[in-house]
Amino acid sequence: MLNGKHIVLGITGGIAAFKSCEIVRELKKAGARVTAIMTKNACQFITPLTLQTLTGNRVITDMFATPSEFDVYHITLSKEADLLLVAPATANIIAKFANGIADDFLSTFYLAYKGKIFIAPAMNTNMYLHPANKINMEKLSSLGVNFIEPATGELACGDEGVGKLAEVSLIIEKVKKILLQKLDLKGEKILITAGGTQEAIDPVRYITNRSSGKMGYALAKVALARGADVTLVSAPTSLPFPPGAKMINVQSASQMREEVLENLPESTIIIKAAAVSDFKLKKESYAKIKKDEKESVTLELEKTPDILLEAGKKKGNRLLVGFAAETGNLVKNAQKKLKEKNCDLIVANDVTQLGAGFVSDTNIVTLIDRKGKVEELPKLTKEEVAEKIFDKILKLKKSDS
Ligand SMILES: Cc1cc2nc3c(=O)[nH]c(=O)nc-3n(C[C@H](O)[C@H](O)[C@H](O)COP(=O)(O)O)c2cc1C
Repeated sequence: MLNGKHIVLGITGGIAAFKSCEIVRELKKAGARVTAIMTKNACQFITPLTLQTLTGNRVITDMFATPSEFDVYHITLSKEADLLLVAPATANIIAKFANGIADDFLSTFYLAYKGKIFIAPAMNTNMYLHPANKINMEKLSSLGVNFIEPATGELACGDEGVGKLAEVSLIIEKVKKILLQKLDLKGEKILITAGGTQEAIDPVRYITNRSSGKMGYALAKVALARGADVTLVSAPTSLPFPPGAKMINVQSASQMREEVLENLPESTIIIKAAAVSDFKLKKESYAKIKKDEKESVTLELEKTPDILLEAGKKKGNRLLVGFAAETGNLVKNAQKKLKEKNCDLIVANDVTQLGAGFVSDTNIVTLIDRKGKVEELPKLTKEEVAEKIFDKILKLKKSDS
């Protein structure tokens, strides 16, 4: 399954270092070649000889102990490897990676390596939840590093909480998934909108909606992983930018319209996952509306531009996907929207359902395509929903050709 894949396994100085043996065994069983890099402190917990025997390869423990047959090994190895997996990862190595410190082989290798990276942290709960560690992990996530979240349970130190190395089976599953990722969206230029637009009332207030942007960002992440070029037109969210996407930040529906129409011609697929305000103020106040003696204020609203409708008119043979957030009559309303907006696919969800809609990490959607096919999906994570949407898009594209 992983035949021909070369995995560099970083092992650091935590009590879970012994679990690296099982990780190596499982990776080897799957056919991968494994090279272990151990930090000096990891060698306090497990011997290089054990890792050498299990990997069948020389174990790297020292930056300067490179035998003469090797050139600058952290560079050559970084060009060869298909994946860097650090398991277990200490708080210390996470901090070094996040700050570009290169004072041993593993941290130097991290800086030289341009491929896919997985980090499986393992540490005491207080260490894991410490703001410094959180900031370091967030920084690495924003740089494109993938984390395999630790489990919750009894820790080696006797404490109970989050920080246990994730199950080895889960680590192996993630490694297989990333290494066997299909690049079936290569060549596609995908324009995605995300987030809830903001319509100004005055310089300090605005009207918006409950959209978190999670669905649109999940679509961007999955599309990038499957090889697409992604342009993400995003209304304000608190999410980290998906590394590799061309980001265009907007606030209002009008700004989003402008960017969508500007980027539409060079796109092959357009996915409108943003929750665009239907109304904006007829006349925005350029000074802060004062409370003074007022008992009430009336805001007069007018319709915003219908971006999906315009995109539908201009789409040509591009594939257009719309989202419909409904609170009833899901399929009927979505079918109407599909026709009216000239979409190829509508992703409909009933936002009143538990586990569906805006802020949730999961979604329950129904896919309705232009051929009238209705496919109800179970509750899935937003990334799983994104995978299903792209599978469907590819099916529709195939049936066109
Ligand atoms: C018995 C023992 C267990 C430890 N377990 C962990 C751990 O699970 N996670 C962690 O981040 N640090 C742990 N530490 C602290 C690290 O070993 C220490 O921060 C060290 O500097 C890490 O070095 P490295 O990242 O270069 O391997 C442990 C220390 C000791 C003495």
